[in-house]
Amino acid sequence: MGYAKNPECELVAIASRTAEHAKKVSERFNIPNVYVGGDNWKTLIDKEELDIVSICTPNYLHAPIVLKAIENDCNILCEKPIAISRDELSQIEEKLKNKNIIFFTSFQKRYNPVFKLLKDIIENNDLGKIISVRYYFSHYGPYKSWKALSEEKWFFDSKKAGGGVLLDLGVHCIDILRYLLGEYDRVNGINFNTSCINMEDEDNCNVLFRFKNDTLGLISVSWCNEPSEFLEIYAKKGYIKVDISGRSRLSFGPNSLKKNKSIKRLLKFKPTNKSAQNKLIDHFINCIQTKKQESPNFDDGKKAVEFVLEAYSFKI
Ligand SMILES: NC(=O)c1ccc[n+]([C@@H]2O[C@H](COP(=O)([O-])OP(=O)(O)OC[C@H]3O[C@@H](n4cnc5c(N)ncnc54)[C@H](OP(=O)(O)O)[C@@H]3O)[C@@H](O)[C@H]2O)c1
Repeated sequence: MGYAKNPECELVAIASRTAEHAKKVSERFNIPNVYVGGDNWKTLIDKEELDIVSICTPNYLHAPIVLKAIENDCNILCEKPIAISRDELSQIEEKLKNKNIIFFTSFQKRYNPVFKLLKDIIENNDLGKIISVRYYFSHYGPYKSWKALSEEKWFFDSKKAGGGVLLDLGVHCIDILRYLLGEYDRVNGINFNTSCINMEDEDNCNVLFRFKNDTLGLISVSWCNEPSEFLEIYAKKGYIKVDISGRSRLSFGPNSLKKNKSIKRLLKFKPTNKSAQNKLIDHFINCIQTKKQESPNFDDGKKAVEFVLEAYSFKI
């Protein structure tokens, strides 16, 4: 949708396994060239003259398509998680070296203005030293919360998804927390279970970790809950609890924080993910035109996957 809305873009080709899905999308967005079949994304990348390859396939195909797009010098927007193993991450990193490719990871949450407001509050030291942060993110799971296009339920297949809810939702949480607080240092522990979906990987997961600046972190994700997203920030001078879905009011304390300019702005503001994906695509296009690599880039995508893989190492 974002590409169709951007006047600088022309959608030239689409690859999909099934003719039915390809037809649906190509007709909707007026895409002239259609490649159907499991491996035809390779033909598309070889045959078409492309500035951009945009990857929104199941997780296990992200790295192979990224590698092919790099070989053909295409700029890349890849859905999260950008890879499902350390080996894939290293291969991409190696191939990107000495290439002038703009690589964006699809962390569109960064374009929800609430996070910029929170970043300003943290950087202005309005709350003092941040002691701990907790990010809760949940929904009813793929196929219940939205109608996925492919019917194969690949999200529940470990080989195709690479993990469970932590890889799906947790990458967004750690990306936002890195954006707000800088690098995480290490994962301290994890607990998880599979309580509502018949699958190998986790559908509920809590991760405890620590940032390099010593802030404590908790990420709690679930595919078995009503849709909700909360961020809590506890600091020396006070606390803020934000409902990222915008359904409930900002909660903060002590009351004296009301006088603070940034908190006042935050109080007036209703968080929204609306049009975040379009904003990400506009930003990506602008970076290509100006030849500037900005975030969310490959490194952001890589750090998020590494975080999850480190957390998964506690499962054994
Ligand atoms: N950034 C975000 O917040 C966000 C939100 C939602 C999803 N995502 C990510 O987007 C990706 C897709 O998720 P989804 O929910 O959209 O899944 P989905 O509905 O199952 O869609 C997967 C798409 O990939 C296509 N596909 C599968 N195998 C293919 C192949 N070999 N060649 C070409 N196309 C192929 C499918 O088309 P056919 O059925 O025709 O093969 C379908 O269009 C995942 O990585 C997910 O994590 C990110």
